Amino acid sequence: MSDLLAHAEAIWEAVVPSTPGFTVEVLRSIDSTNSELMRRSRDGLMEPLLLVAEEQTAGRGRLGRNWHSRPGQSLTFSLALPMAPLSWSGLSLAVGVSLANSLHPEVRLKWPNDLWLHERKLGGILVETAGSGAMPSSATLQPRLVVVGVGINIARPLSSSVASSPDSASTLTAMEPAGLAEVLIGIDAGEVLERLVPPLVNDLQAFAVSGFAVFGERFAQRDALRNRLVRLSDGTEGTACGVDAAGALLVLTAQGMRHINSSEVSVRPC
Ligand code: BTN
Repeated sequence: MSDLLAHAEAIWEAVVPSTPGFTVEVLRSIDSTNSELMRRSRDGLMEPLLLVAEEQTAGRGRLGRNWHSRPGQSLTFSLALPMAPLSWSGLSLAVGVSLANSLHPEVRLKWPNDLWLHERKLGGILVETAGSGAMPSSATLQPRLVVVGVGINIARPLSSSVASSPDSASTLTAMEPAGLAEVLIGIDAGEVLERLVPPLVNDLQAFAVSGFAVFGERFAQRDALRNRLVRLSDGTEGTACGVDAAGALLVLTAQGMRHINSSEVSVRPC
């Protein structure tokens, strides 16, 4: 906790000049940092706020899944920011690009926004919006509060922490989560937080001005699926061909090119 608090101070100092009213809170335990910020938004929160928790008792993932993280061995935070972009398309991909860039050159993005390290899941992103304005698909400029939730595994997975050979990652099963300490030995959650948050705020502010366009090239450099066979949750198979200007996944199928927008579609390497 004290480790996180020291880094929280540094983050506040880095962010507040560009983001007036920005505050940081560090909690020992909460059900879910995203749920808490969404509750506060219903109570009128419209200020930029970083909420970090050492432990989540009911962490939430995408598509209604649970998000389990090991206290002391992972980083869990949510960032609330009022934003009014012309288009919200591609926002969660832009968040992934920002985090991957800050984390490590070997981190890849599995559409739409899973963070992968050595073919295994390193972290996840849950983006939600709240506010009295129109729905996010609208072109209105009325600000909404965006809540960006991030969970990252810091510790090496249990089975790899006892292995010392440099190529041990290749012996791990595909389903096992990755840990950032596999490539950044000794790094702790506070250091990761300080690496991630100031650039993330900058990138969200850039997204508010320019949309996904300024992130497309950087997404392509990190794209874990490009040119790989993928299977959609409706059973369709095809080759992933990057993303379009709105961040939709392009999949070349036997029936032609499909643009996959829906977060209800899951994509898995075949
Ligand atoms: C996913 O990959 O399904 C997204 C996982 C997002 C988890 C983070 S942890 C911090 C924030 N609070 C939550 O309850 N979820 C997000």
